[in-house]
Amino acid sequence: MAASDSKTLLKSDAVYKYILETSVYPREHECMRELRLLTAQHPWSIMASSPDETQFIGMLLKILNARNTLEIGVFTGYSLLATALALPSDGKIIAVDKNREYYEIGSPIIEKAGMTHKVDFREGSALAILNELVAEEKNEGNFDFAFIDADKVNYLNYHERVLKLLRIGGIIAYDNTLWSGFVVASPDEPLSEKDRELAHATREFNKAIAADPRVEVSHLSIADGLTLCRRIA
Ligand SMILES: C[S@@+](CC[C@H](N)C(=O)[O-])C[C@H]1O[C@@H](n2cnc3c(N)ncnc32)[C@H](O)[C@@H]1O
Repeated sequence: MAASDSKTLLKSDAVYKYILETSVYPREHECMRELRLLTAQHPWSIMASSPDETQFIGMLLKILNARNTLEIGVFTGYSLLATALALPSDGKIIAVDKNREYYEIGSPIIEKAGMTHKVDFREGSALAILNELVAEEKNEGNFDFAFIDADKVNYLNYHERVLKLLRIGGIIAYDNTLWSGFVVASPDEPLSEKDRELAHATREFNKAIAADPRVEVSHLSIADGLTLCRRIA
């Protein structure tokens, strides 16, 4: 995969290819490779996380000793499989997507990887399912990690709910927080209506997160921008 075919904001195709070929592909789990190649054939393949990003998330989960996680936005399950592979055998992921058909594309590969028992897939609107989770007292502070990768205009709504579910010291990772670099687009730049709306929502989200005293923040330029929020209060 060259930089030009992917979401990376790295300027050099050659450097991105070098990273993938040197440090990512040689260590990639065979089922991650299979799911990546299968997803690449989908007309919406651009929605999947990049291989360097899923590798990073896998390591982060291990550093955290994560056991209970949440994923908002599953698509074919590429980041979900990376998460499942990084969790211990009794780890659990509540994985939410409004479209079960997408998840079913990748679920045979998740099964083949022996990871199905870790996945609790819930079909529906992320906001409704987060509200249900928050309403159950046993979920308060019960999650070590959340990956938020759907419905960007609702990120701040998700943030309020996920903070209630996350333990102190747990991490929320928000994807696409640089929105193809359009967060710095000038008002006269010829963007589509959708990109203009999402760039605006992303800027508002980034501003709010930077000022939120309940979390520490690290804004990474990996893939399309990944913001880590570590809950401290
Ligand atoms: C960017 S894709 C997720 C990609 C996946 N995390 C990966 O890395 O392969 C976003 C997904 O979110 C789902 N989605 C969008 N809006 C949603 C909503 N409001 N509630 C639940 N799922 C939603 C879409 O169906 C889509 O599968």
